[in-house]
Amino acid sequence: MTRKLALCNQKGGVGKTATTLGLASALSHQGRNVLVVDVDPQGNSTTGLGVELTETMMTTFDLMNRTVPGSAADAVIATPWDKVDLIPSNEALANIESDGANDLIFRLDIAFEGLDLSAYDAVLFDCPPSLGKLLFAVLCAADGVIAVTEPTIDSVRGIENLQETIRNVQRRPNPHLVLEKLVLSRKRTTGEHQFRERELRDTYGDLVAKTSIPELTARQDAHSSHTPIHSFTGGKALALQVAYTDLLAELALGPKGAAA
Ligand SMILES: Nc1ncnc2c1ncn2[C@@H]1O[C@H](COP(=O)(O)OP(=O)(O)OP(=O)(O)O)[C@@H](O)[C@H]1O
Ligand SMILES: [Mg+2]
Repeated sequence: MTRKLALCNQKGGVGKTATTLGLASALSHQGRNVLVVDVDPQGNSTTGLGVELTETMMTTFDLMNRTVPGSAADAVIATPWDKVDLIPSNEALANIESDGANDLIFRLDIAFEGLDLSAYDAVLFDCPPSLGKLLFAVLCAADGVIAVTEPTIDSVRGIENLQETIRNVQRRPNPHLVLEKLVLSRKRTTGEHQFRERELRDTYGDLVAKTSIPELTARQDAHSSHTPIHSFTGGKALALQVAYTDLLAELALGPKGAAA
């Protein structure tokens, strides 16, 4: 079964989008299909994939602005990245946080209701940096959470808050939700980063992915040229390619990944 994974952390700038697109790039590089769902009003996954929104495109906002089972299928578009599809987002999605509809947090789940996702090896939700309704909506729709964090004191504390949110969603309404992995992102070789990494590994054990993602400028260069990191040749792109490919293997996404 295709897993729907939420890449989350309420803290901004920790690497949620970079990890979403890094995994999408790794899947694409292996000839595998992935659906990215941009659930951030900043739309960084949308622009990172080289997509320019047009009036006729449906967005995540459209899925959450009404209650239509299966409507996610109508919002999927192909992107310039081979084998990477997208449900795009823009700033209109910010309006959802002030929407008082009773079923609001279920609408994303309802939008995916009944859909056959077997063409994809994974569905990756790029989440906004908040613990608001958008994140709750994703956690209601997802099977698993990949918590992305930088190895810093604030980010480590942020994981505790995220865990509490996940526990609340597990109690009701999504008992099937699993915290699958903590991913250390934007890792530098400073003493502070090494200390926090040890702290996280001591606290969370195997929950922390063995693979961490180094901080390398090739990520920004690839992102600003809308290029999959696995097709980017500048700087130390190779180290990032290896990291995202290794992380993908650890997450065992999709039928081929699960068999690996
Ligand atoms: N491994 C990396 N090496 C270098 N820069 C990185 C890396 N990962 C992310 N960045 C840069 O850090 C910044 C924040 O990364 P990103 O947008 O992925 O974080 P985010 O958690 O999605 O942010 P937000 O909370 O705003 O959505 C971006 O400028 C990005 O290019
Ligand atoms: Mg982001």
